Amino acid sequence: MASAVTPPSGWYTDPGFLRLELDRVFLRGWQAVGHIGQVKNPNDFFTGSLGNVEFVICRDANGKLQAFHNVCRHHASLLACGSGQKTCFQCPYHGWTYGLDGTLLKATRISGIKNFNKNDFGLLPIKVATWGPFVLARFDDSSQDTVDDVVGDEWLGSASDLLSRSGIDTSLPHICRREYIIECNWKVFCDNYLDGGYHVPYAHGALASGLQLQSYETLTYEKVSVQRCESAPEEQDIDRLGTKATYAFVYPNFMINRYGPWMDTNLAVPLDATRCKVVFDYFLNESLLDDQDFIDRSLKDSEQVQVYYHKTDRRSPRLKTLRCARESSGAWSRRPTAWAGTRRPWRWPCTTSTASCTPTSVASDTYVRRSILCTPSVSKYKSL
Ligand code: FES
Repeated sequence: MASAVTPPSGWYTDPGFLRLELDRVFLRGWQAVGHIGQVKNPNDFFTGSLGNVEFVICRDANGKLQAFHNVCRHHASLLACGSGQKTCFQCPYHGWTYGLDGTLLKATRISGIKNFNKNDFGLLPIKVATWGPFVLARFDDSSQDTVDDVVGDEWLGSASDLLSRSGIDTSLPHICRREYIIECNWKVFCDNYLDGGYHVPYAHGALASGLQLQSYETLTYEKVSVQRCESAPEEQDIDRLGTKATYAFVYPNFMINRYGPWMDTNLAVPLDATRCKVVFDYFLNESLLDDQDFIDRSLKDSEQVQVYYHKTDRRSPRLKTLRCARESSGAWSRRPTAWAGTRRPWRWPCTTSTASCTPTSVASDTYVRRSILCTPSVSKYKSL
């Protein structure tokens, strides 16, 4: 590093800058949105949002992976909520019903009206693909071409081969999901991840004791930064870290961590300029699925790395379980950009209970995290 210049603090606090990032970064090119275990079988679906774009990913009855704007073509109500299995999507407002291939199956009490053609009102498609165990979407391209053979190069650039050889394994079963609402700009989480070799010895003493930090190396590619470190010899046989840990950051907001029998991923989703949601998915070698003690211990260790215990009271970590991540993000109350021409922002809450918005196929916990990453301190730091 030739000089100590930092980005302006406004890049971490200004809502206008976040809008620019959504437009220029997140809504261009491939974005990680989930894992294939969420849409393993026909009729599986999950929903999500990025900025003001709401999306639903599903596997139709023929087994084809599909992705759409999760917005009814009638008056722009949100269509699906949470995740699970459905044979069709029925709008909670006036009951228009869509197939999982996006076609409008039923337009309630509109059939026969002059100049209305049902075929013109299917769900608007989003390009979708998979790479390894990950589901990717492109919001700047609605073509439905099959792209699985080139998506690796488009998403990961020249790091595609390295990551393919780094044990990112589609056969690893998904163990659980944890979600954290963090009071910081999404880039602060990514910045922190990328300086792993710098902060781990001080901020994560227990983790550092299981690593040979002198072996820490960082490899950089166009869109990917890979950090690698060997485990301490005494930990290699028994520890969750295995012999070597690989931490891959994929621009702009996706992180893949492969260590020992584990793989976990972190997706940092901006909620607003000073808050983000980080989604952790944990995958484990099948041979250890019956070892519940090992799983519990490993998840507890991982949790310890993620959660900051307030220094003045370590006995009572400031965690608050929220009722539903979707509700806390206010995702359902925003109108997707695909519907900029409609008459008003449509607010139509989930009609299902809050509890059912939580993914049912995985254990999902959402926390507010009292974090060392909170934006105000960073803002102060950045302005120095
Ligand atoms: S049927 Fe969906 S908004 Fe009317």
